[in-house]
Amino acid sequence: MSDIRFEDKVVIVTGAGGGIGRAHALLFAKHGAKVIVNDLGGSTQGEGANSEAALKVVEEIKAAGGTAIANPDSVVDGDKIVQCAMDNFGRVDVVVNNAGILRDKSFAKMSDADWDLVYKVHVEGAYKVTHAAWNHMKEQNFGRIIFTASTSGIYGNFGQANYGMAKLGLYGLTRTLAIEGRKNNIFVNAIAPTGGTRMTEGLFPPGAFEKLKPELVSPLVVYLCSEQCQETSSLFEVGGGWMGKVRWERSLGIGFNPDEGFSPEDVQANFDQLCSFENAVHPKDNIEALKELMQNIQKFS
Ligand code: NAI
Repeated sequence: MSDIRFEDKVVIVTGAGGGIGRAHALLFAKHGAKVIVNDLGGSTQGEGANSEAALKVVEEIKAAGGTAIANPDSVVDGDKIVQCAMDNFGRVDVVVNNAGILRDKSFAKMSDADWDLVYKVHVEGAYKVTHAAWNHMKEQNFGRIIFTASTSGIYGNFGQANYGMAKLGLYGLTRTLAIEGRKNNIFVNAIAPTGGTRMTEGLFPPGAFEKLKPELVSPLVVYLCSEQCQETSSLFEVGGGWMGKVRWERSLGIGFNPDEGFSPEDVQANFDQLCSFENAVHPKDNIEALKELMQNIQKFS
């Protein structure tokens, strides 16, 4: 066990003007990081802009003796946020993609604008910031990246088709960037947080909102972004002081003779077995994922 410190490290936290992002920014600064506090300062629905939100958090960090710069750009212009880090501190070591909005509607009522804006902020925004930081991280042989997913993406949630799509998409991005970044010491993980913020006001039973303090999410994020942490490609659910790791589980499955073919009725007759999680497997990568399929081909050749 060693102290987790970020002296000489530059950390970008997007959407850090309030809620969970603010808590991340404050904790990184407390641990010695130079922080870019990014926030567009719009509404939960993604309307408007206000540079005050980020400035206020920077004041808080400075008052506590930390170092931070406010940045009011939208994550959709992610290259500007990374440029801000380069201009002020000359490097970028950590990107925490946290900015987010909601456009909740049942799928029947969802407009193209609701779909597109949620995609743009969560997916394109996270892509833009991360992509602009990526080569700096490669060159310095160090990087830590967090994507903020959601249980609405992992499990689904009524009225959040756009949001769920975006949030689980970020986990797909996590998995591939973890593979591409590993040799350059760039580790990439995703969190699905739960926190009492303006985004979740009125959603939790009485008493729970106050207990779900946003700052209870941040220690995991700060640890995952430290030099000490070697974890990559993982997804964690975190909130209210609890945290756990999520993984894929797949049934052992059923195999038919590929040369003889089989009918929908054959699938029907074996469907319970196909869906049985007895002796389930937990593939960690594409090669492990293909194991049972390849074994089936070999079995019949
Ligand atoms: P929040 O609304 O308090 O914070 C989000 C921040 O992102 C706001 O300060 C907002 O101004 C900023 N933002 C929005 N669009 C932006 C853009 N284009 N560029 C830069 N900044 C922008 O919400 P909260 O709860 O703190 O959410 C943080 C993240 O956690 C989001 O990605 C959210 O989807 C995710 N999340 C939160 C959950 C919760 O229980 N609070 C549950 C699951 C996921």
